Amino acid sequence: MSLSRNDKCWCGSELKYKKCHMDFDEKLKKLKQQGYRVPTRKMIKSKEQIEGIRKSAKINNDLLDTINKNIREGMSTEEINTLAHEYTVSRGGTPADLNYNGFPKSICTSINNEVCHGIPSKDTILKEGDIINVDATTMLNGYYSDASRMFEIGKVSDEARKIVDVTKECLYKGIDEIKPWKTCLGDVGAVIQEHAESNGYSVVREFGGHGVGIDIHEEPFVYHFGERGTGMLLVPGMVFTIEPMINGGSNKIIIDKKNGWTAFTADGALSAQWEHTILVTEDGIEIISK
Ligand code: MF3
Ligand code: CO
Ligand code: CO
Repeated sequence: MSLSRNDKCWCGSELKYKKCHMDFDEKLKKLKQQGYRVPTRKMIKSKEQIEGIRKSAKINNDLLDTINKNIREGMSTEEINTLAHEYTVSRGGTPADLNYNGFPKSICTSINNEVCHGIPSKDTILKEGDIINVDATTMLNGYYSDASRMFEIGKVSDEARKIVDVTKECLYKGIDEIKPWKTCLGDVGAVIQEHAESNGYSVVREFGGHGVGIDIHEEPFVYHFGERGTGMLLVPGMVFTIEPMINGGSNKIIIDKKNGWTAFTADGALSAQWEHTILVTEDGIEIISK
């Protein structure tokens, strides 16, 4: 599909192509010819879509703040789920995890040796020393945002605090690696892997970040390991998550046979995860989920 200068832009801005994405497309075409992997149009969000994703992310972020204020020893993960569900709905949003591929709850709650996709339950009671990831995905007016944080219950061991902190550093080092038109997704994965492994940890391979915004999971897949200079070029308008899952021992995981969802570390070691939704801008990034 080739547009003329005076046609309306493909992004839905209602602007003429020459005033909108024409230069962008030409730049991308040149880079593609030079051998870079470049995003498809679907991966480039318009101003209107970005605004929609921001509004969704505001609710998602306020939700995680609310959980931060309320989470405590003795609480069940079911109670966190109820809080999350009711809060999201009260703000006009929809918890996007609920019924996603049959997922039975509104958020994921993954404790200690659980890597991700922990299912809230009235039988899972938070106790002092636990570390827990709460992962929330909000849909508002058709726009999706996704973020997760770790919470420490009471006083936790030095070992637990360290994996929580190093995993957060992995996320922020990954974010810092994004340089529009210059770096690739492989650079993001590489710095995350380096930081995790230099601390004696391992990176989970089976799950990664993902494009997000008009669907809960879009392309591209975001690896949290890899080689610098490989993978898709990072360009303005891309919206995706970075969400490293870092294990204290080996990166081998096991999926719970009974519920078919929850991933555990195979060796029983601790695992941590932090997630943000990121927009690549003209001159850097915006952490949308903040
Ligand atoms: N929020 C998760 C992510 O980061 C998605 C969870 S899907 C669910 O991609 F079905 F497990 F909830
Ligand atoms: Co995600
Ligand atoms: Co998530």
